[in-house]
Amino acid sequence: MLTQEQNELITRTNPGTPMGELMRRYWVPALLSSEIPTPDSPPVQVRIMGEELVAFRDSQGRIGLLEEHCPHRGTSLFYGRNEESGLRCIYHGWKMDVEGRVLDTPAEPASSTFGQRVRQRAYPTHEVGGMIFAYLGPADKQPLFPDYEWTRVPENQTVVVKSLLECNWLQGLEGECDSSHLSFLHRVLDPNEHQLYKADTAPNYETEETDFGVRLVALRDLGDNQSYVRVTSFTMPLSCALPVRGAIGGYDVHFYTPIDDTHAWRFDFSFKRDEVIDRSERHTRGFVDEHFRKLQNKDNHYLVDRDKQKTENFTGLGPIFPVHDGCATETMGPIYDRSREHLGISDKAVIAVRRYILDAIQAHERSEEPPHLVYDPAQNDMTHIDARTKTFEGRDWRAQFPWLVRTGDRVAVG
Ligand code: FES
Ligand SMILES: [Fe+2]
Repeated sequence: MLTQEQNELITRTNPGTPMGELMRRYWVPALLSSEIPTPDSPPVQVRIMGEELVAFRDSQGRIGLLEEHCPHRGTSLFYGRNEESGLRCIYHGWKMDVEGRVLDTPAEPASSTFGQRVRQRAYPTHEVGGMIFAYLGPADKQPLFPDYEWTRVPENQTVVVKSLLECNWLQGLEGECDSSHLSFLHRVLDPNEHQLYKADTAPNYETEETDFGVRLVALRDLGDNQSYVRVTSFTMPLSCALPVRGAIGGYDVHFYTPIDDTHAWRFDFSFKRDEVIDRSERHTRGFVDEHFRKLQNKDNHYLVDRDKQKTENFTGLGPIFPVHDGCATETMGPIYDRSREHLGISDKAVIAVRRYILDAIQAHERSEEPPHLVYDPAQNDMTHIDARTKTFEGRDWRAQFPWLVRTGDRVAVG
C-alpha cells in the first residue's frame, strides 16, 4: 500500500514533478524507428511525459525531436514540410534543423538575423534495436546510453512491438515485476501448457537492490528436489528485463514510457543472442490499430469470450499477452489509488520496486545522483542485467547464474 501522497509522487511525470524530473535523467524509448522510416519521411507527433514533440528524419538520416509548436507563432510542426535537412513550418515557412537551429525565416527581410537569436527546443536521441530513445533532461547531465547486452546484437536478431496502455505507466511496469500473475492471467487451459507455473502457484520471492534497479527472483518448488527459477530485472526508471518461453538465448525488455499521467507507450523488445528472429512468427502488429491502440480495449470489454474463458484460457481474451496485461491494468482506473489495495506475500517484488523508485525520487530531490546513470565509458558495462529461467536440482538458484551475483553490484539506496 502507498499513501495518497506517495502515490501522487511516484505516478506523475509531467515537467516539474519529482518523478518527472527523475525520469528525465534517463534515456527512454520515445517511438519506433519504423515510424520515421526513411530520410525526409513524414514527421510524427510524439507525446511523452506530458510534452508535445515532433520527430522527423532529415535528408541526411539524422533524427530530430523538437518541441511541436513552431517558435514563430506556434503552428504545429507535425504538418511541416520535411525537406532539405530541416522541418519547414507551413504557416510562414520558418525552417528548423534537428538541433533546433532556425535555418530560414523567409517571411523576414533578407538582412534579418532574427532566426539566429531563436532556438527551438530539441532533445538528443539514440536509435537502437528498432527504437528511438530520447533524453529530456538537463543538457549538462546527459548520460551515456547504457551498454546493455541487447544493444550489441544485429537488428535481425531483435523485434519490437509498440502498444498503447490506457492508464498510468506504473500500472504497466508493476505487472512486469509481478511473476505471480503468470500463473493466472496468462494461463492456457491446456494440460500440456504452462505446467511449470501451475505446479506451484505460490512461489518463493526474493528481491535484491542493485546498482541498476531491483533483481527479482521467483523460485518454484516442482517436487522431487527440483526447482524452477525465474529471474527478472527491474531497470531504472521504467523497464523490466524478463525471460520469455521459447527465447532461452535472449530475453525481453518491456518499457513503459509515460505519454501523460493516464496513458503510456508499451514497447515489447525481444532479442536473441545467436539467432535471427523470424518476424512473421511473432504477433508483431496484428493486435493494434494504426495508432497502436489495442483492437481489444476497454471500450469493447476487450472482446471477452465467456465460453473460451471456460475452455481455452484463464481470461477468455485470446492469446495476446499485452491484451491480458492491458485488461488487468487499465481496468484499475486511469491512475490507481494504491491506498486502497491489499498487498500480500506475492506482491513482494512490486513493493521492492516501488520502494526503490520512491527512494530514488527522494534522493534526487536532495540533489543526489540517481542510480544507473553512467558517464564514464570504462564503467559502461550492463551485462549483469539479465533475465533467465532454469529448472535445476536443489534450491540454490545463485549457483546456477554465478554472473548475476558478482560482488559490487549491490548499493545502498535511501
Ligand atoms: S508559425 Fe511557423 S512560421 Fe509562422
Ligand atoms: Fe503479463
